[in-house]
Amino acid sequence: MSIVYLNGEYLPKEEAKISPDDRGFLLGDGLYEVTPFYEGVPFGLDGHIARLLRGLCFMRITFDVSMLEEMHRTLIAKNGLDTADRSMVYLQITRGAAPRTHYFPEGDVQPTVYAFAKAWSRPDDERWNRGFSAATVPDRRWSRVDIKTICLLPNAIAFQDAKEKGADDAILVRDGVAIEGAHQNFWAVFGDTAVTHPTTNNILPGITRAILLEEARKAGMKVEERPIQVEDLAHADEAFFTGTTGEVRPVVTIDGRPVGRGVVGDVTRRLSDLFLARVEAVKRAAGAGV
Ligand SMILES: Cc1ncc(COP(=O)(O)O)c(C=O)c1O
Repeated sequence: MSIVYLNGEYLPKEEAKISPDDRGFLLGDGLYEVTPFYEGVPFGLDGHIARLLRGLCFMRITFDVSMLEEMHRTLIAKNGLDTADRSMVYLQITRGAAPRTHYFPEGDVQPTVYAFAKAWSRPDDERWNRGFSAATVPDRRWSRVDIKTICLLPNAIAFQDAKEKGADDAILVRDGVAIEGAHQNFWAVFGDTAVTHPTTNNILPGITRAILLEEARKAGMKVEERPIQVEDLAHADEAFFTGTTGEVRPVVTIDGRPVGRGVVGDVTRRLSDLFLARVEAVKRAAGAGV
């Protein structure tokens, strides 16, 4: 039985009721976050909360985030996920329920706060080592995709289009630039340099991306934050995505053409190892499994 959090209460999912007047349902007027846990230890939680807070400020929603860490930990525990290899908490905050208007509701409307926890798994080594495919599709999102809103229709269509082209994932292209994936950040490797789009209003500033940049720089690997022209992908040696439940995910074909030699490359492997080492260090520091 899944226990969820709704507006201050922990309750079985079947008992969670949300008003049909909720502005998240009617207008997509809300934000979300997905935070990973490894053996019950939160990973990058501060970054996820900081990104959420930035979104709340942008949306002018007043909400005290100081309860979130405790809520996340409680939800993991109540769902028996403390020992799960990998799990996550999905959190959604909407402006709340009010008679439908385009402008913000007047008066004291409380935000709706909903969260659930579940386990997820990494592809097995054989699958990961084969690498994944991606297809380029137009980026039809709005001009503030740095805010993690629940309005994911363009991402959903992009993912579906990529799927229908037989690819595992989408690369969103805007003005000739490979911006990011439908739910992950995108990187290409040229020689020994890993390149990813800078954090502008045109990408979601991924927490996994930020952690990987930090680890790569610490390890003396070459990284650059600059736009990747889609035509340059023909000369890329490697490519990969990063994201909370994707971690570092190698891309070996784009639009049916091999990236570099069409196999998972050394830079991708090294970055993936650095990422997983950071996870292990965070677990150790929290005393997981002892
Ligand atoms: C469009 C997009 N880009 C990138 C990411 C990766 O962000 P993170 O590493 O914080 O999961 C996500 C995650 O949902 C996303 O939706």
